[in-house]
Amino acid sequence: MKIGLLTGGGDCPGLNGVIRAAVLRAAALGDECVGFLDGWRGALDASCMFLDKTVVQDIVAQGGTILGTSRTNIDSAERIATVKASLASLGVDALIPIGGEDTLGAATRLAQAGVRCVGVPKTIDNDLSGTDVTFGFTTAVQIAVDAVDRVKTSSASHHRAIVVEVMGRHAGWIAFNVGVATGAIATLIPEEPFDIDAIAARAATEVGRRRSAIIVVAEGALPAEVATGGQAQVVDEFGHVAVGGIAAYLADEIKQRSGVDTRPLVLGHVQRGGTPTAFDRVLTTRLGIAAVEALHRGESGVMVALHGEKIETVPLSDATGVLHTVPLDEFDQVTSIA
Ligand code: F6P
Repeated sequence: MKIGLLTGGGDCPGLNGVIRAAVLRAAALGDECVGFLDGWRGALDASCMFLDKTVVQDIVAQGGTILGTSRTNIDSAERIATVKASLASLGVDALIPIGGEDTLGAATRLAQAGVRCVGVPKTIDNDLSGTDVTFGFTTAVQIAVDAVDRVKTSSASHHRAIVVEVMGRHAGWIAFNVGVATGAIATLIPEEPFDIDAIAARAATEVGRRRSAIIVVAEGALPAEVATGGQAQVVDEFGHVAVGGIAAYLADEIKQRSGVDTRPLVLGHVQRGGTPTAFDRVLTTRLGIAAVEALHRGESGVMVALHGEKIETVPLSDATGVLHTVPLDEFDQVTSIA
């Protein structure tokens, strides 16, 4: 079998771990692999690189993706036909698309059109259904926790509140975990509008009592009193509005309403960079192996997923149908002790 791999959407620590494991397992089974460059763009214009043991053997700890990525979509019959023609011209029999909701949505459409596809779930946001966790998430959380631990000591030196903005447009998994792991006084997620006055009052109390206050906010979180948050309206090929700016807005409001010196810190793309955690290295290795083995069993239109201690396959539509958001009962219970 000749297998084509690609990485789509936002990059994420662990992408190279999946590529490495899939290529090594495929080689052991007698398959050949190519990697399409820059996500679906490479599959559209048939730009690819040969992948063998020599290329992938040392990349398990490497951040980013050796294949490059893009937010190119496969959203029309014409693009589906173009991808099929590229695969035929290269003799590629099956695809392993590694990505989030958008990349796997495109994979779903291709599988429905008869292209053999086994997806691998990726996103630091952890907002895909059908799997217990997505790879890259634990790494992003650890990066943000390390940053908050550092800024906390500075916050205490200066009697300041710090509003730390983490990624998460529609789901607050990163903020939830970072807030809990760092003892933040408030954790704000897109799933639950927040009350600025309550946060400002709490910041004043905590800075007075223990000299510091950390507020962790997901980039997509909004105050109950603001409809749009004044956020930028830049839209990508999948129709996603670019978000950001909530930390600066909230830091200003806290300062004005409570008088507490408050600074914003936007962690941004640093959360997606660098080496994956050991957990993500192991998970990506297992997922890459499982994707190749699923193709060998004749499966298609599925995604490999972590369920408890096992890697299993689920229909791609399970992953992309409903966003995996933070359950508010659990969120409220765990954050209520802060
Ligand atoms: O989907 C992953 C993600 O990192 C989101 O958390 C974030 O909103 C978005 O990608 C940023 O996208 P870009 O890299 O295009 O700025």
